[in-house]
Amino acid sequence: MRIVLLGAPGSGKGTQSQSLVKAYGVPQISTGDLLREAVAAGTALGLRAKSAMDAGKLVDDETVLGMIRERLSQADTANGFILDGFPRNIAQADALQTVLREIGKPLEAVVLLNLDLGILFKRLTGRRICQECGQVFNIYTSPPDSAQHRAANGHEPRLIQRPDDREDVIGKRLEVYDAQTKPLIQYYKDAGLLRVVDADASMDAVFASIQRAVA
Ligand code: AP5
Repeated sequence: MRIVLLGAPGSGKGTQSQSLVKAYGVPQISTGDLLREAVAAGTALGLRAKSAMDAGKLVDDETVLGMIRERLSQADTANGFILDGFPRNIAQADALQTVLREIGKPLEAVVLLNLDLGILFKRLTGRRICQECGQVFNIYTSPPDSAQHRAANGHEPRLIQRPDDREDVIGKRLEVYDAQTKPLIQYYKDAGLLRVVDADASMDAVFASIQRAVA
């Protein structure tokens, strides 16, 4: 499986990637996660990326492409990958095509998770993450059950909010999506790779739709 999950912030790319990893045994490559790890570790790359991320803007292409080239060269991608949050603009999509052509592993499908703006906003403002184990919750749609979480993970859910899930930053992220990432829908339609999935359904129903779309 070699796919891209395309969609606006909060459309469920990370959530569905986790299910795909379990079902297909291929790694999730999330540029957002890789960048947040670099920020947390205080690396030079992380310091460069932080101000753009906090403002809801895209990190520069050179930084992101360097990260992706390095990640795609790792052995665990031999049987495929799920790209989550990459590519984000036409330049990144062109560069991805070049890299995948070089390694002889073209994309099989690009799955667009389609969702209305109002729902995106609620999903993003409601998202909380357990800082101990990284599990993602939503105070509106999937709040944590303390006892269940303690039994499964050995700790209480200790919830934090991503700095870019503040309302003012969400607006900017959605603007950036419209201006820079949305053109990829036509780009991948033209390439014959686009599959559209209705992401306004339960997590399981969206997952089933993705499975059908990539079958
Ligand atoms: P990134 O981390 O990629 O964020 P994003 O694209 O904005 O997407 P999110 O992670 O916010 O949302 P998601 O679609 O994964 O939704 P989730 O599954 O969590 O990027 C962050 C920043 O890094 C960017 O702004 C940029 O600065 C930088 N960056 C990253 N990649 C870059 C690139 N390629 N180039 C340049 N810069 C880059 O779900 C959201 C919530 O909804 C959760 O609470 C979840 O529990 C809930 N939920 C999910 N599905 C459902 C459902 N079906 N029903 C009910 N609730 C649901």
